[in-house]
This record gives sequence, structure tokens and C-alpha cells, in this order.
Amino acid sequence: MLIAANWKMFKTRAETRAFCEAFTPPEGVEVVICPPFTSLDVAVEAGLTIFAQNVHWAEEGAYTGEISAAMLKELGVAGSLVGHSERRQLFGETDEGTARRAEHALAAGLRVIACVGETDSEREAGATESVLRRQLAPLPRDPRLVVAYEPAWAIGTGKTATPAIAQEAHAYIKSLIDAPVLYGGSVKPDNAAELLAQPDVDGALVGGASLDPDSFAAICRAALIS
Ligand code: PGA
Repeated sequence: MLIAANWKMFKTRAETRAFCEAFTPPEGVEVVICPPFTSLDVAVEAGLTIFAQNVHWAEEGAYTGEISAAMLKELGVAGSLVGHSERRQLFGETDEGTARRAEHALAAGLRVIACVGETDSEREAGATESVLRRQLAPLPRDPRLVVAYEPAWAIGTGKTATPAIAQEAHAYIKSLIDAPVLYGGSVKPDNAAELLAQPDVDGALVGGASLDPDSFAAICRAALIS
């Protein structure tokens, strides 16, 4: 089980320090935190396993606003998210760009959590499987690649996929790629156990509920009993 916290654009360095002092990951579950770029070194120093929220495909170059895998490794960062639905929807990132980011990060020795998932209208149009197929096709096949299934309609909305919906999508993803699959989208302490109990749910990617050390610790503990 892998439980990852995606802090998005939340927490200053001082707030990151305060979280790390208050949070002790339970034994027996792998915990990853993805803070904003400016807090990565603070979180690494606290002794936690730290991933970035994005990584560029080039080693260096004229890519204003981007960060390379080598820059992350220098800070002691262990991996990165790629292809989060907010990157796709708000910043125009594509399936191919996401795959290039994943490929480069893996080649540089980072681990990768690649996010996939359909929007509300794609689900209503019955396109969930074709969207997942299209997003997964260009991703590199690598033992250090983890997939996160995050239906965009469940992110930050309080609408969680039912355990049955999550299980169905995870089983489909696993028929296309041999990788652990995390569920993400409104995971909370009170719904984590039933989601994590599904046979093809290998962990969780947690946004809002990961910002509070007690609620994130409760989700991590739910992984132990699932
Ligand atoms: P949420 O976000 O848990 O706040 O829905 C999940 C994510 O975007 O990774």
C-alpha cells in the first residue's frame, strides 16, 4: 500500500515544517508527500519520502517555470507526480507531454506517479475506458511507475467514486498496464478503508485531506487494516 499526499499549491515552508513535526507515518505503510517546489527541501530534511508535483522532460534548457529531474534529485526528492488532471485541464498538458515527463524522470532515477482519469462529461458520454486507454497508451512501462486513477469529477468536489466504480476502473487500468494503481478523488478518513479494501486499489492519492496531519495519519492507518 502506498498513500501519497498531494498538497497542490498549499503550505509555505513554515507550514511544511509544522506539518512534519506533527505527522508520524504509521509503520507498515509506504507514505509519500508531494509538497510545492518551494517546500521540497524542508520536507526532505524531516526524513519523509518526498515527491514533486511535476517534472520536466528536458535535462535543462529554455523552459521558463519548469524544474528538471536532476534539480529534484539534488534536493533528495525521490519521485514526482505527472499528468495531474489540474495540469491537464488548467495548464494544457497533454498525454504525450505527460508520458515524456514520466520517461525522463524514470531515466533520471526518480519514481513516478502518473495520474489518469476521465472528466464528468466523458463519464456521462460512456467514454471512461477510451479516455483511460488514450492516457495510458504513451506511458512508459517501468517497474518504478505507479498509476493514480483520479476521476476529475471526484477531485476536490466531495464526490468520491463508490468503491465499486473505483474497483471497475482499476481493474480496467490493470488490464492495460502492469503497475500498482492508487485511487484519488475526495479520499477522507471516513471513506478510505472501504476504497482501499477493493482488490485492485493499491493505495491512495490524497489532496484536501492530506493537509491536516491528523486526518492524513488516519487515512494512512486505514491502509493498514485494508
Ligand atoms: P482531493 O484531491 O483529495 O482534494 O479530491 C485529490 C488529488 O487531486 O490528487
